[in-house]
Amino acid sequence: MSTPEPEISIAGKTILITGGTGLIGREIVTCFLEQGAQVVVGDIVDSALETFGNELKTKFNEADFFMVKCDITNENEAGNIVEATVKKFGKLDVLINNAAIDAKFDQTGTDSVDSSRFENYPISLLRKSVEVNLNGTVIMTQAACRQMLKQGYGNIINVASTYSMVAPNQALYDFGDGEPIRYKPVDYIASKSFVPNFTRYIATYYAKEKIRCNAIVPHAIFNNHGEKFTNNFSKFSPLGRMSDRSELRGPFLLLASESSSYMTGSVLTVDGGWTAW
Ligand SMILES: NC(=O)c1ccc[n+]([C@@H]2O[C@H](COP(=O)([O-])OP(=O)(O)OC[C@H]3O[C@@H](n4cnc5c(N)ncnc54)[C@H](O)[C@@H]3O)[C@@H](O)[C@H]2O)c1
Repeated sequence: MSTPEPEISIAGKTILITGGTGLIGREIVTCFLEQGAQVVVGDIVDSALETFGNELKTKFNEADFFMVKCDITNENEAGNIVEATVKKFGKLDVLINNAAIDAKFDQTGTDSVDSSRFENYPISLLRKSVEVNLNGTVIMTQAACRQMLKQGYGNIINVASTYSMVAPNQALYDFGDGEPIRYKPVDYIASKSFVPNFTRYIATYYAKEKIRCNAIVPHAIFNNHGEKFTNNFSKFSPLGRMSDRSELRGPFLLLASESSSYMTGSVLTVDGGWTAW
C-alpha cells in the first residue's frame, strides 16, 4: 500500500455536490474549484443554478464544472446526475450529500411553523423533511454507489448537523425580551439524526469495496442573523461565536482528499465545541 501524500490535495478529483447553490454549497464548490477539482453542482432550484453558474464562469474554466437540476428525492434525477458526471468527467470520486431542508431556510414556505409548539407540529411537515433529508440522501447515495462499485472505489461525505448529535437548546431561541420563544421544530432534528448512523452503515457496508463514507457536522454558519440571536448564541457556544462558512473549507478538503484515506465511518464535528459540553 502506498503512503498517503502529506499534503491535502483534491486536484483532478471529480466531486458531485447536492444542494450546491446553498449557503454551504457555494462556499465548498468555490473552494473545490480553486483547488483544481472538477465539480458537478446539483440543486433543485433552477434560478439559483443559473445565477451561481454565471458567477462561477467569471472565475473558473467552464471545462471544470457544470450545473444540473436535480431533486434528490427523485430516483431518475439522482441517476441522471451521476450519469451526466461520468459522461463528462469519466468518473465520480466524491459525492457530497449536502442538500437538505430546514424549516428556518426552506424556500417553499414551512417558515410559518417556527413558532409552533411540538404538540401542534404538523406531521405533514415532518414527512416532507424526512422525504428530503433522509430518503433523498439514501436515494442519492444509492445512485452514487452503483457508479462507485463499477469503478472500484469511492468517497461519500454526508453533511450532518449538531442537531444530528444533540437536542436543540430551546433557550437559544428565547431572547429574554418578552417575545414568545420561537421553538426549533422537530422535523429537522428527526430527519438529520439519521445522518451519523447512516454514515456508519455505508462506511461498514462498503468498506471492502473501497468506498469510504464520513460525515461533517457544521454548526451555526453566520448568515446575517440578527443581533439578538448572535448575542444569545455566544453565551451557549464554547468558542463564543457563530462560524464563518470559510471555516468548513479545511474539513471538507480533508475528507475529500486521500489525506483522510484511513478515515471511514467518522463524524467530524466543526461546531466550536457546541456538542462538547
Ligand atoms: N447553515 C448552517 O448553519 C448549517 C448547520 C448545520 C448543518 N447544516 C447542513 O448543511 C447543509 C447545507 O445547508 P445550508 O445552510 O447551505 O442550507 P441552504 O438552504 O442554504 O442550502 C440547501 C440547498 O439544498 C437545496 N435543496 C433542497 N431540497 C432539495 C432537493 N430535494 N434536491 C436537491 N436540492 C435540494 C436547496 O435548494 C438549497 O440550495 C444541510 O445539509 C444542512 O442541514 C447547515
